[in-house]
Amino acid sequence: MANVTVIGAQWGDEGKGKIVDWLASRADAVVRFQGGHNAGHTLVVGDTTYKLSLLPSGIVTGTLSIIGNGVVLDPWALKAEIEKLEGQGVVITPDNFAIADNCPLILPIHRDLDGLREAAAGTGKIGTTGRGIGPAYEDKVGRRAIRVCDLAHLDSLDLQLDRLCAHHDALRAGFDQSPVDRDALLSELCEIAPFVLQYAQPVWKRLKKVRKAGAKILFEGAQGVLLDIDHGTYPFVTSSNTVSGTAAAGSGLGPNATGFVLGIVKAYTTRVGSGPFPTELEDEVGQRLGERGHEFGTVTGRQRRVGWFDAVLVRQTCSISGVTGIALTKIDVLDGLDEVKICTGYRLNGQVYDYLPSHAADQEAVEPIYETMEGWSQSTAGARSYADLPANAVKYIQRVQELIETPVALVSTSPEREDTILMRDPFMD
Ligand code: IMP
Repeated sequence: MANVTVIGAQWGDEGKGKIVDWLASRADAVVRFQGGHNAGHTLVVGDTTYKLSLLPSGIVTGTLSIIGNGVVLDPWALKAEIEKLEGQGVVITPDNFAIADNCPLILPIHRDLDGLREAAAGTGKIGTTGRGIGPAYEDKVGRRAIRVCDLAHLDSLDLQLDRLCAHHDALRAGFDQSPVDRDALLSELCEIAPFVLQYAQPVWKRLKKVRKAGAKILFEGAQGVLLDIDHGTYPFVTSSNTVSGTAAAGSGLGPNATGFVLGIVKAYTTRVGSGPFPTELEDEVGQRLGERGHEFGTVTGRQRRVGWFDAVLVRQTCSISGVTGIALTKIDVLDGLDEVKICTGYRLNGQVYDYLPSHAADQEAVEPIYETMEGWSQSTAGARSYADLPANAVKYIQRVQELIETPVALVSTSPEREDTILMRDPFMD
């Protein structure tokens, strides 16, 4: 039985939630391997709506849920999320929830720095979620982060905080900010430590055991490949690797464990925050797609930018992430349009490109080359087989598949779990 790795193949918000829920209900363990509480995920089970940012999706149904070492963990956000879910009747114990003890922490000083930098950047700002993600990853790579396991060694935390605070004080001085209140930070950490430590363990070992027992593991990616720190639209990216390969490094299992790579792809394109967006629509078609698709950020409530499907980008992200098959979501948002467009290439300085060049200025300057297809007036919402789809919607899906050079494994036709056309079951592949 294969494991499954789910990743976003655009700029995030591809509709991973529904697909992940469906897969999580059939998995024995669900693992988050990168990002932090910048992700947003709404789960509807029966009459209850659960909002998750940091916890893996399996948590709601009691499936073993694991936060891997590749995640940056805000312990206070974790506590708030756990308490909120417990208030809704979800049972979270060290039996069904584990945190990698080598996971770096997001501290209030990271959130401060995120905000200060964004405010100072003016129009050049990245448009982060303001959760301190970038600064926390910087401290990890700078080898001065406080990690979960450090909370079990409070006696040596003092020294570590000296190093960390010296670095942050220098940065804060540049923003005319007072130095870090080191004693307050230490006492906050001492206070939260027992809460975090009850779940902390070497999760690579737990996963090894689970894997040996033949369990199905779902690796739950956050954000999307175009926000990847290496492969995304740098510098307008998040600070982690969002590609499928991170599932291995960010959890402590080898690359042969990650199984079927399911790329989640929206039938059009959206992005939140700043940065290049070749197929962005700033007309009434874009507005219509945004309204029909409810394109508002789950975490920040910001309106998402909207555009036509960009096959160049998705072909690139599927290749970079070794996508086995895609889940095409929100096709119903395109219902009722006279025509639909797909970007098949770019024009830049008189040349045609079949990929997105790496330089930010080139990414901003590329002009999309479109192929126009006839739309469909009938509804695709709720379709559960190809036969239920209008012929032009089928043509659209087939053309997408051809252009991105990756097979469609499933098509999602509404937020309801059952409204899915399944061609290949990732867990059975
Ligand atoms: P950060 O991850 O908060 O540093 O934000 C960096 C960029 O990633 C910004 O453009 C955010 O809007 C974007 N971003 C971060 N998390 C998500 C997400 O879950 N969905 C979509 N965009 C995201």
